[in-house]
Amino acid sequence: MCNRQSSIVNRQSYSSFSAESIKEGLRTRWLGKGLIRCYETIDSTNIEAKRLAHAGVPEGTIVLAESQSKGRGRMERTWVSPRGGGIYLSVVLRPGILPGEVQKLTFVAAVALAFTLRRFGIAPQIKWPNDILVNGKKVAGILMELTAGTGPVDFVIVGIGINVNTSTDEFPLSIRNLVTSINIVADRPVQRREIIKILLLQLELWYERFLTESFETVLEAWRQLSNTLGERVMVILSNTKLEGVAEALDADGSLMVREDKGKLHKVIVGDVVHCRPL
Ligand code: BTN
Repeated sequence: MCNRQSSIVNRQSYSSFSAESIKEGLRTRWLGKGLIRCYETIDSTNIEAKRLAHAGVPEGTIVLAESQSKGRGRMERTWVSPRGGGIYLSVVLRPGILPGEVQKLTFVAAVALAFTLRRFGIAPQIKWPNDILVNGKKVAGILMELTAGTGPVDFVIVGIGINVNTSTDEFPLSIRNLVTSINIVADRPVQRREIIKILLLQLELWYERFLTESFETVLEAWRQLSNTLGERVMVILSNTKLEGVAEALDADGSLMVREDKGKLHKVIVGDVVHCRPL
């Protein structure tokens, strides 16, 4: 473990990304086959992907960075993005769905991400809606962004952050025991490029299943990977808290939480804390 940890912080051997290196051997049909923008450092790959989307880049455009100065997480949090520590990737999608449907894509991305990590001998679980955990610690997260009007969305940005080589002492003390990295939990050293290629393939697969089959197909896979369903949870809502048992997923991906007094609540957006240590 000691050797593993020290090799994580020594990143000399980790090469920078290039569009060519990502495309080499990439087995997708369209995702990542066009424009891939790679940056040494950027404010946020999501912000850059949005700029590009507004400028009209096609679906499947990818933005990648070695580090982010303003990496963003869900609920206005910061996403720790040290140079070479992780994968900071954003994808431009143009699904032509209504703004109210966009939340479904977070489930698509979570399932794709979980299946990706399984390819590296890791057993991930998903905490509702889309935190990827290994051994109860967060290893990856997803941030969706869109510009909503009244009709179908022009684009959706799917931002994915994965801790790959990040050593836990690079995280703020407050979250250090809640996070982990691929190269701590994988059974062999993993190159970020390898993960990206599988991730793009899985993302393309699950996105197409969502568009051409049904959202229920995605939810079925999500349920198999969930560590939230059946658990006692505390849900932090915008101005209150709710405690109960996470009983089910609704057809739109909302979490159905039953309070002890019996009332069933439908949670569309919120932050879930598991009450029992995992
Ligand atoms: C979360 O809070 O779990 C979501 C984290 C998402 C982080 C990724 S890193 C790439 C993309 N750019 C950002 O600024 N955020 C997302």
